[in-house]
Amino acid sequence: MAEITKKWYKEMSVYQIWCRSFCDSNGDGIGDLPGVYSKLDYIQSLGVDGIWFSPIYPTPNCDYGYDISDYKSINPEYGTLDDFKMILDDCHRRGMKVFMDLVVNHTSSEHEWFKESRKSADNPYHDYYFWRKGKGKKPPNNWLSVFEGGAWEYDKNLDEYYLHVFAKGQPDLNMDNPKVREEVKSIMRFWLDMGVDGFREDVITFISKAEGLPDGFPLPIATGIEHYKHGPHLEEYLDEFRAVMKEYDCFAVGEGPQMGLKDAVELCSEGPSQKLDMLISFDHMNCDCFMVDWIKRPFSLRKLKNVYDRWQHEMYGKGWNSLYIENHDHARIIDRYGDVKFRVESGKMLATMYTMQCGTPFIYQGQEIGMTNIEINHLYDYKDVMTFNNYRLFHKLLGYSEKRFCKLASQVSRENARTPVQWSAEKNAGFTTADKAWFNINPNYKEINVEQAEKDPKSILNHYRKLLKFRKENEIVIYGDFKQYYKSSDKLFVYERNYQGQKLLVICSFSADPVRFKAPEGIDLSAGELVINTYDVLDPGENEFSTKPYEARVYLFK
Ligand code: NOJ
Repeated sequence: MAEITKKWYKEMSVYQIWCRSFCDSNGDGIGDLPGVYSKLDYIQSLGVDGIWFSPIYPTPNCDYGYDISDYKSINPEYGTLDDFKMILDDCHRRGMKVFMDLVVNHTSSEHEWFKESRKSADNPYHDYYFWRKGKGKKPPNNWLSVFEGGAWEYDKNLDEYYLHVFAKGQPDLNMDNPKVREEVKSIMRFWLDMGVDGFREDVITFISKAEGLPDGFPLPIATGIEHYKHGPHLEEYLDEFRAVMKEYDCFAVGEGPQMGLKDAVELCSEGPSQKLDMLISFDHMNCDCFMVDWIKRPFSLRKLKNVYDRWQHEMYGKGWNSLYIENHDHARIIDRYGDVKFRVESGKMLATMYTMQCGTPFIYQGQEIGMTNIEINHLYDYKDVMTFNNYRLFHKLLGYSEKRFCKLASQVSRENARTPVQWSAEKNAGFTTADKAWFNINPNYKEINVEQAEKDPKSILNHYRKLLKFRKENEIVIYGDFKQYYKSSDKLFVYERNYQGQKLLVICSFSADPVRFKAPEGIDLSAGELVINTYDVLDPGENEFSTKPYEARVYLFK
């Protein structure tokens, strides 16, 4: 059996904060750092060991912070560097870590480097970005951006185009320029010297572009992606960044869109050539859609189980998995893989299903209380560049009306995860004292909110607390291997973990209807202890039973 090494980052679980929608302290309708500070007791009470902040740097907000105009400062909408340091110190006092989002595939077009770069072709910053002459009246190649039509924007003054794989306001940095890599290292050191414990690295696997920027295979979006999704110098550049990380006891999780398991094993395998501690992969988030969230298809449990099976096996003893089912880039999971009619039941089951696997669990704000998607009926109520780009595409290519589009967006848009956190049943869900929050608040806040969940011992919130506590107290959850049963079932996800003579059996029903469960051969439930359950169980030792809607159980055998 593969040897497994113990590391602190394998034992932690992490809470993700998307600050704008977390908690507003000064009544301007926008979440901020003093708001986060005021909720540290709550965050710690979940049993997490760290916080990952989605970008909190100055930004013109063309992609809500993923367009950074100053890497060494704090967005004034959110507070000051002192506010941040207060959180950092307090987290450390509490034994919690703090991770920053390192967004270096691109900057904001408002960043000083970019402003300089567009002054003239001989400006020292010109080569920080991809400035190219057009081909006649056409852009330098046929690449399309992920967010906004063509991937090249023309600058009249220079008579050149710049590359932006994401929005126009997010010009790509030219990582082939050693000076740019030095800047990245200096940013890393700035935060690490302050005491930050590591980074989530945004689309880090896109940082190396193929030589000559050749034309790509035509697609409706992101044409050219094959030339940068795992570019020729990726490993080399990651090695350079890793060398900085090694000076500190910190960790890095890299976001890797379109990265497969093979890439993950290659980048995350432990040893001298390890590039990343773990990867944020997407395979398991594609089980109700085709390639991208916007192309919907019915949820397939078999597909989900198959993905987990492969990742759990392949990474075991080599690298390490990051485990997540929500973040700021996807619609809420209960609407996707669960059942809003059984919100609490399916929310608890999904929580159990992923946190009991081998890897580091990430929990996104609001996920712990089972927040759900929001219905928005007008385009003008949306905020996100990606939603607008999809409207353009769905309208132009498929003739979608605004109404039809909004219906789809209410199911799939990432904005579903960006509504303000619902703290209480008070006005604006207790998120802000302003008349209006910066973004729509889900009208279901009167029933779904933290205050209510605190009072209910059977809430999703209290279930998360149980799971994380159990994980912390039982090494088998962290270090055990993974074996699946009943692989062909499209209703049950049953797996086992084994570690140092102990066994954990996880049983999850993905169905509102009763499903007949029979203990796998050789396992006697009466010999185990029911350690996690989402319903009261009269006879936990029964080896055959019918599941309740979205029931989950975990048995421990010592
Ligand atoms: C991935 C981030 O998670 C997403 O929110 C962002 O829009 C893109 N990278 C571009 O930075």
